[in-house]
Amino acid sequence: MPAPSENATFVYPPGPKDALFGAKLYLDNQRDPLGFMERLSRAYGDVVHFRIGKQKVYLLNHPDLIKGVLLSHYTNFVKGRGVVRRNNFFGEGLLTSEGDFHRRQRQQTQPAFHHDRLGVYGAIMSRVATGVSDSWDVSAPLDVLEAMRQITLPITSQTLFGTNVETSHDEIIEAFRAGLTQFRSFKPVATRVVDSLSIAQRRRVKQARLRLETLISRIIAERRTQLDDRGDLLSLLLSRNGGEGDTQGSDTQIRDEAVTLFIGGFESIATALTWTWYLLAQHPECERKLHDELDSVLAGRLPEVSDVPRLSYTRMVLEESMRLFPPVPRLVRTAIGEYQAGPYTIPARSLVVVSQYLMHRDSRYFPGPERFDPERWTTLAKSSRPPYSFFPFGGGPRRCIGEGFAYMEGVLVLATLASRWKFTLASSAPLELNVTHFLHPRNLTLTATHRSAETSSKALAVSG
Ligand code: HEM
Repeated sequence: MPAPSENATFVYPPGPKDALFGAKLYLDNQRDPLGFMERLSRAYGDVVHFRIGKQKVYLLNHPDLIKGVLLSHYTNFVKGRGVVRRNNFFGEGLLTSEGDFHRRQRQQTQPAFHHDRLGVYGAIMSRVATGVSDSWDVSAPLDVLEAMRQITLPITSQTLFGTNVETSHDEIIEAFRAGLTQFRSFKPVATRVVDSLSIAQRRRVKQARLRLETLISRIIAERRTQLDDRGDLLSLLLSRNGGEGDTQGSDTQIRDEAVTLFIGGFESIATALTWTWYLLAQHPECERKLHDELDSVLAGRLPEVSDVPRLSYTRMVLEESMRLFPPVPRLVRTAIGEYQAGPYTIPARSLVVVSQYLMHRDSRYFPGPERFDPERWTTLAKSSRPPYSFFPFGGGPRRCIGEGFAYMEGVLVLATLASRWKFTLASSAPLELNVTHFLHPRNLTLTATHRSAETSSKALAVSG
């Protein structure tokens, strides 16, 4: 490992130097964010330091260091660059708020994700997946990410908002896609100069956000006129009465939270499912094992919440897919005070990056890390790995509030679709990644075949 360098106060961990004030590093990162992080950790180890302009950036890649940032010492960090977040795409929702405000918001939202509520949501999930997939046009390749969004969006609107905003689905997806340009690339240190150059982009983001706000405000206004408690998330948010001076029950606050949960609710799980189909299409032996489990547990009927514990291989497939392709590939924090990471002191205001993508492909914890192998997720295999070697849902007090919801939805939708459908790659073009806040495939198309068609063609072949 190269020797650390020193200045007057801090001993810096090893890392790349850039004579162009970080411009080259910035561009390397823009071009290939995940490759950039991989090269750094391979060359410099578990703690890497570099600068872009004046901004100090630390990349931490060890389960204990990740646990330190997300859990043990989380109060020493704020999210991202700690900027005023009112203007960002999510507003002041749960994902972006900080401190006491976040703690109160989280406490008030949590009941919507309790186990007994998830049971009610589960019934909707397999029904929506069957309904939407029944309308697929199998004569053309399927844009699989779009196809998954068309399933997870109505699931989110029906479960969390008790409404089916069916006519607005395309509008929501389109607005969200425009909003994603805000996170077009992994840019831990995007400078003000770069931000100010993208005026057209920012206008698009603002318009997208406005479209979403209008839609959600419409749903809220409708629900304010109907005073019944439907037991869904929106009823819960509307029942808040924070008292004088407390903004948490205001329409703006409810709207910001609803937008956050809406987006959090449909996009990450659509992404996880997309990667799962991509991997299954290339691993027929795992697909066969999955089909065997589904055929034996479900015997042709739709999966229900009570089936989930018995669909253990289905869940293992999902976990292995999120290991190789974590829907959220990295988290960025700003240190608000000095922080000790192993032997190094990280100065206040530094950016700290921890990456699910890097950690999940670390051969110390996942031998043969490129191999898709759901058997890594047996209870025994899991117990042999340290916490935070796998953290697709983040960790600590900011851990994903929708984790239980996401696993239930993932297992039920995967089980519903894989019972009836089989996917094969529609093109042999190499996979291209699109890294924003999320990790998406670019233009991934698959061919969907109904399993009954496959079975009958096999039967024909045998009898012929
Ligand atoms: C496979 C599916 C999902 C993945 C991989 C995922 C991933 C994550 C991650 C990594 C975080 C932490 C962000 C950070 O620390 O900066 C997070 C937070 C969050 N997620 Fe998820 N998520 C998923 C599904 C969901 C669902 C279904 C919902 C809502 C229905 C949701 C709502 C949220 C919210 C509100 C937060 C912010 C929590 C807080 O800061 O208190 N997510 N998610």
